Amino acid sequence: MTDIPPGVAVRAEGLAKTFGTHRAVDGVDLDVRTGEIFGILGPNGAGKTTMLRMLATLLAIDGGRAEIFGVDVARDPHVIRQLVGVTGQYASVDEHLTARENLWLFGRLQGLPGARARSVGDDLLDRFGLLDAADKPIAQFSGGMRRRLDLAASLITRPPLIFLDEPTTGLDPRTRGQMWETIRGLVADGCTVLLTTQYLDEADQLSDRVAVIDHGRKVAEGTPDELKTTVGDSTLQLLLADPADVPAAVGVVRRVLGSDPVLSPERGRLNVALDQADLAGEVLIALRTAGVPIASVSVAKPSLDEVFLALTGHETDGDDNEEDR
Ligand SMILES: Nc1ncnc2c1ncn2[C@@H]1O[C@H](COP(=O)(O)OP(=O)(O)O)[C@@H](O)[C@H]1O
Ligand SMILES: [Mg+2]
Repeated sequence: MTDIPPGVAVRAEGLAKTFGTHRAVDGVDLDVRTGEIFGILGPNGAGKTTMLRMLATLLAIDGGRAEIFGVDVARDPHVIRQLVGVTGQYASVDEHLTARENLWLFGRLQGLPGARARSVGDDLLDRFGLLDAADKPIAQFSGGMRRRLDLAASLITRPPLIFLDEPTTGLDPRTRGQMWETIRGLVADGCTVLLTTQYLDEADQLSDRVAVIDHGRKVAEGTPDELKTTVGDSTLQLLLADPADVPAAVGVVRRVLGSDPVLSPERGRLNVALDQADLAGEVLIALRTAGVPIASVSVAKPSLDEVFLALTGHETDGDDNEEDR
């Protein structure tokens, strides 16, 4: 990969985009360091794709500014396009061509001589485990194979920075795991990766740092561990025997800890952030004294799900597009 000195890969200040009257991206600052995987985590419609498209020069920036490796995105779009490999949420490959033909075509479109386009393409097919399927039309590919081919296509020019827009949405768990390995491999080869995801576990597993985006705004940023710490060292997860007791339980928690529990949409379930795990006992005793029966209880390290719920007051609603393309 191209040698890029350590430092800042992406810097955005007050990035904004308005569609009609809707502010899809509403003043976001970003600081992505070279060599890291930076995750933009947010539910459907949060503005993730719009941000990536602006940074990739595919969409005009309405407000704020952005630099990639020190190059201004709005002023020098042609330089930016040399620096960034973009992989779309919707694969950009041609259905009627084979995998090998697709990569060759991408290489040619990027200005590589024919023989070079073929050898780079074959290297990538090999690296992504697609050599056996190289001469099959894409129409016969599974969702996971398409994603890998799409990623391979974005790597033809060996860009130092890769944008991955929801690289595993709709993939089955095994294929997701393979994709994660592939993404980690990119970083091991010296790439910087900016990815979007609506999966909390994906942000947790892959990212060095995460920005949580909701309604076009950044609501939190940090390492996955730092984000988990924002909701306390540990979480007391309670399932009440009777969901009608939720208001009483909230009152008890507020009295004992001076803070409110996070209500889960699942009826009767509440998560209580604890500074110290041993405060769990006091909460349980107070609930019993108040006559609130509990169906199940556990103490866990907070998940990013709880972080999201605590930060935004709502769940990630990202389970509505499970299609496997
Ligand atoms: N081209 C467009 N025209 C109008 N509205 C758009 C357009 N693209 C995105 N939006 C709206 O902007 C918001 C953010 O969209 P998007 O960036 O695609 O979110 P995400 O990628 O996080 O799901 C959504 O409300 C979406 O409907
Ligand atoms: Mg999107």
